[in-house]
Amino acid sequence: MKFQGQHILSTQQFDKKSLLSLFAEAKKMEKVVKSGPDVKSGSSSRFGRDLKGKIMATLFYEPSTRTRFSFETAMLRLGGGVVSNADMMQTSSIKKLETLEDTGKVVSQIVDVIVMRHPESGAVALFAQHSDVPVINAGDGSNEHPTQALLDLYTIWKEFGKIDGLTIGMIGDLKNSRVQHSQIGLLKHFKVKFVLVSPRGLEMPSAILKEMGASAKVVLTPEDMVETADVISVSRIQKERFVSEREYKQFVGSFVVDAALMKKAKKNAIVMQPLPRVDDIAVEVDSDPRARYFEQVRNGVAVRMALLKMVLK
Ligand code: NCD
Repeated sequence: MKFQGQHILSTQQFDKKSLLSLFAEAKKMEKVVKSGPDVKSGSSSRFGRDLKGKIMATLFYEPSTRTRFSFETAMLRLGGGVVSNADMMQTSSIKKLETLEDTGKVVSQIVDVIVMRHPESGAVALFAQHSDVPVINAGDGSNEHPTQALLDLYTIWKEFGKIDGLTIGMIGDLKNSRVQHSQIGLLKHFKVKFVLVSPRGLEMPSAILKEMGASAKVVLTPEDMVETADVISVSRIQKERFVSEREYKQFVGSFVVDAALMKKAKKNAIVMQPLPRVDDIAVEVDSDPRARYFEQVRNGVAVRMALLKMVLK
């Protein structure tokens, strides 16, 4: 699949071949980030030059720490430039009632690529219809977060050297986690089994479950899940998707991954979480050699570098 000049809106745009070539490119990008001064040119090679002269805008209508920093660092490491608005809801022309469609037309006259996050499902796709430059979805409501899923699969692939044959356990807010939805969207290209566990009321949406078919098994307790999982994919209860604090509070603190649960997990399993965590992973798990959530953050820069190159080169 060719990504040059394309919007990246959904995991549905990827197949196994394009995923594996993205991972190979991300591996190369890790070297760009890690390597010391380039002796030949005398300059520091921690900065590539592949996207020199290109400018990326980050438009965030919803809070972010990792995703925005990660995209911006990726672009800077490739020699490109960045313009950024971390709080579009408060400080952009939306306050003067500009429509999303018009903002799309406007910003795409200025920059070469746009990275956007929005609280409403489908809003990034709508925006992209009116943009003359590629738009990358950095999360739209509870719908999708494709680049997080790309870096998650990259982390799994690096860890196990393969994805086929693994059992993926999922725990947390399976109803609202756009990350877990996107993970499933990519994992369908591999021969994996799923074991799902969530608080009652936060189950995986039935449409997604139907698509997963016989590969998915729903279990009742976290213990049942960790017994067979090679990957333990955790999500926090997605507070911003609930109508009231009261409704949210019903679920907080249920299904915590802690040291006691990890005692029952497989020796070579890994624990993943896109972060932020709230009450879903106990801090004591950080020192467990199976924790991978901070490494995921590091992998995210390399994966986004690879993706930006594919879209812009
Ligand atoms: C995720 C998100 O925004 O969906 N965070 C992230 O991008 N790393 C997960 C979350 O907020 O729980």
